[in-house]
Amino acid sequence: MAKRIVTLPGDGIGPEIMAPTLSILRELGDFDFEEHLIGGAAIDACGVALSDETLAAARSADAVLLAAVGGPRWDSTDPQAPRPEQGLLGLRKGLGLYANLRPVRPLPALAEASPLRAQLIEGVDLLVVRELTGGIYFGEKRREADSASDLCIYSEAEIERIARSAFGLARAKVTSVDKANVLETSRLWREVVSRVHSEEFPHIALEHMLVDNAAMQLLAAPRHFDVILTENMFGDILSDEAAMLTGSIGMLPSASLGAGGPGLFEPVHGSAPDIAGRGLANPLAMFLSAALMLRLGLRMEAEAAAIESAVAGALDAGLRTSDLGGSATTAEATRAVLEGLMARKS
Ligand code: IPM
Ligand code: MG
Repeated sequence: MAKRIVTLPGDGIGPEIMAPTLSILRELGDFDFEEHLIGGAAIDACGVALSDETLAAARSADAVLLAAVGGPRWDSTDPQAPRPEQGLLGLRKGLGLYANLRPVRPLPALAEASPLRAQLIEGVDLLVVRELTGGIYFGEKRREADSASDLCIYSEAEIERIARSAFGLARAKVTSVDKANVLETSRLWREVVSRVHSEEFPHIALEHMLVDNAAMQLLAAPRHFDVILTENMFGDILSDEAAMLTGSIGMLPSASLGAGGPGLFEPVHGSAPDIAGRGLANPLAMFLSAALMLRLGLRMEAEAAAIESAVAGALDAGLRTSDLGGSATTAEATRAVLEGLMARKS
């Protein structure tokens, strides 16, 4: 039976990068795509960023593919106003997707596109494992007359399961990133990660690094890292920073997985309202997210690898969208990757 994929184009450039991704997937297999609203588009249509209907559809799918949410149209500091991001956060929480994987593997063809020197990024192959359903993102939020607070809370069980994901994915080393010199949650994080390590994964090296230092080391010595294990907000920030090792945030895919059930696959970048509607968006992170969906969500390794090699081939042949310093449009980027996929069959 064809795999059922819930597609969530969302806002801004979302629909422009989702449509070509479906054309790429159609080249590779027989899928049932079912489109639903999320984010600002859902707020406009039904007043909430994530409707019960969208969440129920996602829950019963084989995999969920999301493009991007958000935009200035829905920006507001009013705590009562619905926000597009609630759609994404609600989906992550609702599907129990606690493990967010963000691989950072700069392609040789893009060595010159990174703001860092090519010799520094050569050979970088790291994975950010970000805890995605806890911490300050989901702790109680309060707004008083003249103050506000966001609670950062982690349970041992939440830290244990994400630590297991990280150690299980590491080849040789896990760098656990925290702020244990200041935060109580970080001290618990350090204790629990160390315990999971010594009891279950003693063959993997473990180091602890403070988040400010990690931010510096990512630029000073990115090859130092194998798996970076960290909590929700630190992972959000460090993964945007790490994205620039690849030349553009327009290149970074991600996978969010839980304990069984469908995974969510989405590019790390946002909805880019500044270029939305102009056909200029780089669709490659979205294509690479579809590849992660095939590999991790649907166990279609050959098809996943085919997308990745078609993307690398297109870049080798000179494809550059504007974020990479070129002038290729979304349609041209799509054609280049599609041609690579068809060439493999002949
Ligand atoms: C990300 C994004 C989201 C996050 C936003 C859109 C809520 O920045 O996936 O990294 O902070 O998790
Ligand atoms: Mg982010």
